[in-house]
This record gives sequence, C-alpha cells and structure tokens, in this order.
Amino acid sequence: MTVQDALQRPIRDLRISVTDRCNFRCVYCMPKHVFGPGHEFLPRSELLTYEEIARLARSFAAIGVGKFRLTGGEPLIRRDLVGLIGMLSGIEGVEDISLTTNGSMLTPDKARTLKQAGLRRITVSLDALDNQTFMMLNDVDYPVQKVLDALDNAEAAGLSPVKVNVVVKKGVNDHSIIPLVRYFHGSSHIVRFIEYMDVGHSNGWRLDDVVPAAEIAERINAELPIEPAEPNYRGEVAQRWRFVDGGGEVGIVSSVTQPFCRSCHRARLSARGELYTCLFAARGHDLRRLVRDTELSDDELTDRLSRIWSVRDDRYSEIRSENTLSLPKVEMSYIGG
Ligand code: GTP
Ligand code: 5AD
Ligand code: SF4
Ligand code: SF4
Repeated sequence: MTVQDALQRPIRDLRISVTDRCNFRCVYCMPKHVFGPGHEFLPRSELLTYEEIARLARSFAAIGVGKFRLTGGEPLIRRDLVGLIGMLSGIEGVEDISLTTNGSMLTPDKARTLKQAGLRRITVSLDALDNQTFMMLNDVDYPVQKVLDALDNAEAAGLSPVKVNVVVKKGVNDHSIIPLVRYFHGSSHIVRFIEYMDVGHSNGWRLDDVVPAAEIAERINAELPIEPAEPNYRGEVAQRWRFVDGGGEVGIVSSVTQPFCRSCHRARLSARGELYTCLFAARGHDLRRLVRDTELSDDELTDRLSRIWSVRDDRYSEIRSENTLSLPKVEMSYIGG
C-alpha cells in the first residue's frame, strides 16, 4: 500500500530515534547551558521497547517505508542496538537500514556486529579536522583522531559508503570546509556539508550563522572543481557534486537556502514513541499509546498511521521566516535530525 500526504508526497523513510541521550554537547544541537548536569533525560520506562519499535516499523513498511535510519541523541548509547537492527532487517520491503552516529562508540567489533545484524550503511558526524575547532564544537574535548578511527572501523566492516556529516557554522568551522574536502578527496568516504538549521530553540540559531549551500559549492569548486551529479534516489536530502578529476563526490544539504520540502518523504519516530511529520514540528502524534494498546490489531495500527500521513501538509523550510522562528519546535536531540 502506498499512502500519499496532502501534498502528494508518499512516505518512504522512517528516522527512528532510540535515545535522547548523547555523550557529546555539540553547540548546535545540545548546548551545555541547556543540556547541563541538571537536564533530565527520558527515564527508561518512557522509551519504546525494541519490540514496540519493530511493531511500528512493520506498520510503516506496510504503508510504503523502505528505509530506516537509526538516530538519537547518540544511538549507540542504547543497549543492544544490534538486537533492534536484527529485528528491523527481517521486515518485508525494507531495502536499507542505516545509522547516524558521532562515532565515539564505533569500535571495530561493534562495527562488525552491526553489519552482521543487517546494518547497511553508516554516517559519522565530524565538523573539523583540527582538534581545537572540533573540541570547541563537541564541547566535551573529544579528539578528531578517534572519529577518524571510527570511519576506518566502519569501512573495514563493509558499512560503506561511509558518509561524513559536517554542520557548517559561519565563523566557527567554515575554515574547515577545504581541509575536509582535501582530506576525503580520493577516498571512498563521502563528506557532506550541512547548512546550520534552526531546529529547536536551544541553539540560538541566527540566519547570519549560515553559510549558504551555493557559497559552500563555490568555495569547493575554486579549490577542486566539481560538477553536479544526479541524486541517488528521489528526494535525496543532499545535493551531490562530483569532483571533475574523478576523486569521488561531496554532498551539500541546503535546508535553509534551498528547501526540499516538495520531495520530503520522511517521518520521524521519537524515542518515546511520538511520530513527527516534520523536523520542525511542534508536536508529535502519540504512537506509544497505540502500540501499547493490546486491543488494537496490526491492521488497525497501520490504518492509524496511514490516516496521520494522508493529512500531512508540513513544509516548514519553504515557509521559514522571521515569524516561524518563534514557533514551538521540538529539539534536535529528541528526534535525531
Ligand atoms: P541518506 O541520504 O540516506 O544517506 O541520509 P540523510 O542524508 O537523509 O541522513 P542524515 O542523518 O545524514 O542527515 C543529513 C542532514 O540532513 C542532517 O542535518 C539532517 O538533520 C538533515 N535532514 C535529514 N532529513 C531532513 C529533512 O527532511 N528536512 C530537513 N530540513 N533536514 C533534513
Ligand atoms: N543543523 C544542521 N544539522 C544538525 N545536526 C544536528 N544539529 C543540527 C543543526 N542545528 C546534524 C548532526 C548529525 C545529523 C543527524 O544532524 O550533525 O550529523
Ligand atoms: Fe550528540 Fe549528534 Fe547532537 Fe552532537 S549532533 S550533541 S553528537 S546527537
Ligand atoms: Fe520535510 Fe519538514 Fe524538512 Fe521540509 S522542513 S524537508 S517538510 S522535514
């Protein structure tokens, strides 16, 4: 069954946040002044169990979802994530399971067991190549080399192509764009530069902090010529650019200056079981209540999801303005980006 929303967009991807916790405090995501020692994370009883996530995932697959991406917070913090991947990989119609991580817990052994359980790909966040900038951004003194080791571990386990996510904040790490491009040029890793977004309210986002995608592309092109490449799939978030000299490709995610809501096929499931139909939504639909309802059959559950999706009309990035900035919005670490 394929279900379309009010703007004729089918549902294709489900991003599943398995925890709101993270061992980093990236300034653009979980700034310390908000996520300090006093911050209360969700208690275990509030989280969906893996069985509940898998049941919901089966229902999502029944209305058209073929891709799952596990996120957090930091997803590898949650115990036995491998077990969840095993459950998801058995679902009919699912072609792709991937994971977005900060890499800090991606040992060679963990990478291998994730792969064996059915994980196909991995994306690791790394915002700079010099320790001073990277540590200032992750705010927990986490060194660059350990993330580079995680990339090696992912590649050795066959979780490829490995993608590297760089959130670009003007005046903070935009000097890292060219060093990162040069470092990964000619490797099998794909580095993607992401416009800093106004997700949630704690990061103090200002439009002046954004380096526009067009400028990022120009800066790269001036050093190593690039040309546009076709998307891998309809509605791919990152624009692809290939190096003219054959040294691979880079991606740019331009949610602020060139929104892509028209082809947005993504839903997000929070760790406590709310369904968000947009990254910038204020509230989610309570699926935990539904999945815990023993009276509700699988078909009825699928029908509820289908009804939620069919009235969806979100397109926040296309209507972003001074006025939308103050709207209530969920925090990034709560729904995993
Ligand atoms: P693949 O294309 O499957 O490799 O993954 P992806 O690029 O969709 O996932 P990833 O977790 O690497 O996300 C890259 C960046 O795009 C992150 O900053 C996300 O928050 C952002 N992003 C992903 N989906 C959306 C979306 O629907 N809307 C907006 N505005 N940003 C998104
Ligand atoms: N803007 C853009 N990207 C962000 N991410 C986290 N916060 C933001 C933000 N405010 C990125 C992370 C991760 C991905 C899931 O989202 O770096 O790579
Ligand atoms: Fe943690 Fe990722 Fe958010 Fe950084 S961006 S604080 S690593 S969840
Ligand atoms: Fe989709 Fe919302 Fe992002 Fe637009 S802003 S692409 S509707 S998640």
